[in-house]
Amino acid sequence: MQRYRLLSGLLAFLIVTALAACGKPTASTGSEAADQKEPPASEQTSTTPGKKTLEIFSWWTGAGEEAGLLALIDLFKSKYPDVDVVNAAVAGGAGTNAKAVLASRMQGGDPPSTFQVHGGAELNDSWVAAGKMEPLNDLYESEGWMDKFPKELIDLVSKDGKIYSVPVNIHRGNVLWYNKAIFEENGLTPPKTFDEFFSVAETLKQKGITPLALGDKEPWTAAHLLEDVLLGTLGPDGYRALWTGEKPFDDPDVRKALETFKRMLAYVNDDHAARNWQDAAQLVASGNAAMNIMGDWVKGYFTTDLKLKPNQDFGWAPTPGTEGVFVVVTDTFGLPKGVDHPELVKDFLKVLGSVEGQTAFNVLKGSIPARIDVDPQKFDVYGQATIEDFKRSTLVPSLAHGSAAPEGFVTQVNQAVNVFVTTGDVEQVIRTLQTAQDTLIKKK
Ligand code: GAL
Repeated sequence: MQRYRLLSGLLAFLIVTALAACGKPTASTGSEAADQKEPPASEQTSTTPGKKTLEIFSWWTGAGEEAGLLALIDLFKSKYPDVDVVNAAVAGGAGTNAKAVLASRMQGGDPPSTFQVHGGAELNDSWVAAGKMEPLNDLYESEGWMDKFPKELIDLVSKDGKIYSVPVNIHRGNVLWYNKAIFEENGLTPPKTFDEFFSVAETLKQKGITPLALGDKEPWTAAHLLEDVLLGTLGPDGYRALWTGEKPFDDPDVRKALETFKRMLAYVNDDHAARNWQDAAQLVASGNAAMNIMGDWVKGYFTTDLKLKPNQDFGWAPTPGTEGVFVVVTDTFGLPKGVDHPELVKDFLKVLGSVEGQTAFNVLKGSIPARIDVDPQKFDVYGQATIEDFKRSTLVPSLAHGSAAPEGFVTQVNQAVNVFVTTGDVEQVIRTLQTAQDTLIKKK
């Protein structure tokens, strides 16, 4: 066991070092935009002999990502001052680098005390299926959570009647962010359909304004955009059927969505491949681009880091064709088997799952609470509107953020989309995605 720990620790270290050497971010993202702050007390890196240690693993570092986590850690430390908290976050949006480090640690028998994982396939098909997680039904019962989280969400973090993690939030994936001043000055309204999108984009292009900001230095952002285009074209049932294998990728509607996606790419910033998601959102914030399609971690970045005002400095709308549909991205934390202080992990999960914890985290992160009984008044106008939208909408899982299909499939999609952004070869991407579906998705 000890040897495994050393080996996997070494492996994780080598991966992170290699990533750093490749120029990947290791501490802070949002290079053009990040607000550098004094590190808060919660950012401990060393431990005190004799104190129990809780190691929290995530990919929340840098602008738009870490403020919520640090608030949660501070809240936990105020309640459990005798615990050393190690914030083991590995930078890279959507877990670009963190997931590899986590996999190596889990395989090496060196799990962190708790780790960020999306509800759905990412949790269930990887860690639960491999027998690496403890069930948390007792915790849900003792904390009275069974009717405090939406049933759909509990289902997403359950397998065979056992609940394996606690959702800290709900992000919305299908949001179009726009610069209010640019839209007003040009007499534009946010596009509800793809036809409207292209008409708005053409007007902006004629005026020399970049219509759509993209930052696909990390390929998941392009897959995220494609996911929203697929949803807007196929509707919720067709979209879901792609990830269950009921709808093939050579379906005419998928081809249509890919053509639309390709057309949209003609309206993005030239330097998209050099930017991460924060850098892309920053183009909209600074008035150098009009729109950005991204999850509402952008709202956290805009308001918490850039101090922008919702509905004044920026506006939002569902992405074209997706009104009434809500792409659910839920970040959750569980209890891996074999950790040193399982009771301590449960104490942390209790704070994370409490009204107080969910409020502290989500007002900063841009997401809405996963619990249904948090006071909406604590949230800004975007948060309040999103809490309402969540209740009224058709909910669909995100592919790009791990809920809809197994990790191996998501990786293939990211790679295929990355190639497509450069080649624009619709037939080739359809063939690649079809092979991935045939081999990696169990048809229902
Ligand atoms: C998602 C995650 C969000 C946010 C985003 C960008 O996968 O659920 O909380 O961190 O990636 O990194």
